Amino acid sequence: MDPQDRICAALDFATWPEASAFARAVAPAVGMLKVGLELFAAEGPPAVRAAAALGRPVFLDLKLHDIPNTVEGAARSAAASGAALLTVHASGGPRMVEAAVRGAGARVRILAVTVLTSLDEPQLQRIGLAGPAEQAVVRLARLAVEAGAGGLVCSPLEVAAVRAAVGPGPLLVVPGVRPAGAARGDQQRVATPAEAVRAGADVLVLGRPLRDAADPVAAARAVAAEIAGVR
Ligand code: C5P
Repeated sequence: MDPQDRICAALDFATWPEASAFARAVAPAVGMLKVGLELFAAEGPPAVRAAAALGRPVFLDLKLHDIPNTVEGAARSAAASGAALLTVHASGGPRMVEAAVRGAGARVRILAVTVLTSLDEPQLQRIGLAGPAEQAVVRLARLAVEAGAGGLVCSPLEVAAVRAAVGPGPLLVVPGVRPAGAARGDQQRVATPAEAVRAGADVLVLGRPLRDAADPVAAARAVAAEIAGVR
């Protein structure tokens, strides 16, 4: 896999005009563009179509979590917008993940989010997921793959354990990536691009480290150069 193709730039902006300037600039330097909740809530499916028109697969990160019937319909609608990947929460359970896979159809890969990379162990304990995050992540990863998910979203710190649990097939997508010296923000379970790829990540999601860089294209190329040396 070309190192650049492993980079997914998150279009975390409030409006398409703001996202568009960034997306046009970085698209030639990355392999994928991600439309998340902020942009989708403001602009809806036209933002997905506009991002896809830049010639990169679009990852629609809606993190669906509802009853199976509702998720199946939402996945069907999302698929019609031209997204190539769509997220659901694995904690919605196996029936919900199966429903998402049915709704999304053959052209859209369902990625299951295991445990948000912003959650640390004290917060996981309050939610009722006591114990090491890795245990919950691996349990949710297995459940989602058995239910038909084509990939998983997990933190760089758990990606090696997830790869060992699910084998080479599922696409492992990893946010919480911070080049050396970059601010963590609200992310808790982070690693550098090289560490994440070495641990088994297929695709790295970068939001603020690209969006807030003085030169986002140079920042993306630096990430590609960093991971080119791995494996
Ligand atoms: O700015 P930053 O690099 O932290 O952005 C990470 C992106 O990945 C955000 O768009 C966030 O919504 C997304 N994401 C995440 N953790 C997950 C799944 C997706 O941070 N488990």
